[in-house]
Amino acid sequence: MKDREKGIRRPVFPSAGEVDRALELDDPEEVVTRLLDAKSRGELYPLYHRLRSLAPAHSTQVPGLPPGCFVLTRYRYVDQVARSSSAVNDPRTARVFDHDGTGQGAFYRVMSHAMLFLEKASHDRIRRLVYKAFTPVSVAPLRSLTEEVANELIDAVEHDGAMDFVEDFAYPLPLRAIMRLLGLPREAESTVEAWAWDFARAGDPMSATPEIITRGNAAAIGFHDFFDRVLEEKHRAPGDDLISALVTAEEEGGKLGREEAISTLILLIQAGHETTADLLGNAMIGLFRHPGELERLRTSKALLPKATEELLRYDASVQMSMRLVREEIDLDGTRMPEGSFAALSYGAANRDPEVFRDPDRLDLDRNPNHLAFSAGAYFCLGNSLARTEIQAALGVLFERLPAIRPEGEYFVQRWTARLRGPLELRVAWDSSASGS
Ligand code: HEM
Repeated sequence: MKDREKGIRRPVFPSAGEVDRALELDDPEEVVTRLLDAKSRGELYPLYHRLRSLAPAHSTQVPGLPPGCFVLTRYRYVDQVARSSSAVNDPRTARVFDHDGTGQGAFYRVMSHAMLFLEKASHDRIRRLVYKAFTPVSVAPLRSLTEEVANELIDAVEHDGAMDFVEDFAYPLPLRAIMRLLGLPREAESTVEAWAWDFARAGDPMSATPEIITRGNAAAIGFHDFFDRVLEEKHRAPGDDLISALVTAEEEGGKLGREEAISTLILLIQAGHETTADLLGNAMIGLFRHPGELERLRTSKALLPKATEELLRYDASVQMSMRLVREEIDLDGTRMPEGSFAALSYGAANRDPEVFRDPDRLDLDRNPNHLAFSAGAYFCLGNSLARTEIQAALGVLFERLPAIRPEGEYFVQRWTARLRGPLELRVAWDSSASGS
């Protein structure tokens, strides 16, 4: 399923030279071009630092972003725009997914009903309904479901002494956990996993090829029909699960339409799957690069909640989001006019030295106020689910495989610009010393 050529080999331990090469760039346009070129840009964070020092609210003409789009790399600016009611995700933002310009592509139709891209009033209404469905009862099983899945995945590889951390652990884990939380059948896990992969690829407009778009449309149709049937069944026989709670929300005065419910379920799968998988992969790489912190986490489970926050700051899986500016916004004299776009660079904001001392150092005691989940009206709805999953997954991992280490000198980084995570990360351990 995983298309290996869509990744680039990267060193687990990068050389200092990569930082120097970023410092040689003096034109912010060159830096943005490199930032978007996930294939050959090298280390990401030196480029953010460079752009932030050259032009922290840079209006760009680089292809791949809307003309004039302001790329924001300073924490203060990203935070201000994320919280501003003058900057929105609206249906026009979803148009980047209307790949053939007909408005008829299945992928585009699903995205145009997803809350993220609806007009403010509809967005807020659906967000409230989904929030209501995230009741303590409906989400309580998540920690134990994640631990159950993590243990199953490690059972399958423990005696091999090695695995691909992404394919064998991080990627299947959040999808299976959320599917079990949603009360979906286990037989559907591999089909949904394949759709989720194709759907996510089509969701990165900067790297989508015609083949990716075709597969994204097929995945959207598969997802749509699957959830239509599931909603029908839950409508007839509701249970204690999250989908039943959404169905109830649908029934109360018809507040959540069928298409909206389908798009919401797809969004819950999509928004919660690769983001969490990527975060786990980024977290492992960050920890391998900071062996002292890895050792502390290995030996102290109590550190997990704080460590999760720092790992989210250190290398977030959602690097960038777009906003449409509805009314002019002023950032220290840089005016973003009505109708312009802003690219909120969460990854750059989270390493801003104005806010985080020694920002390139992973410090598990930091407990940072990061922007990995954004802020304001679109603040990640699944943040507490994600936090629970990450803590549970890392807890089981270090308990079962305390001697985990990188197997080689390289891992494979996915090309995508908006989402960030490894495609392959080989890890090993001494199987006779594993923790079970
Ligand atoms: C480490 C894991 C995760 C990260 C880094 C992450 C990050 C984000 C970010 C940055 C946004 C804002 C998007 C924007 O700025 O336009 C967002 C929105 C959202 N996230 Fe997450 N997320 C994660 C996990 C999850 C999970 C587990 C779920 C649910 C199961 C979820 C559901 C959502 C939804 C529904 C939205 C849209 C909210 C809205 O439109 O109001 N996310 N997430």
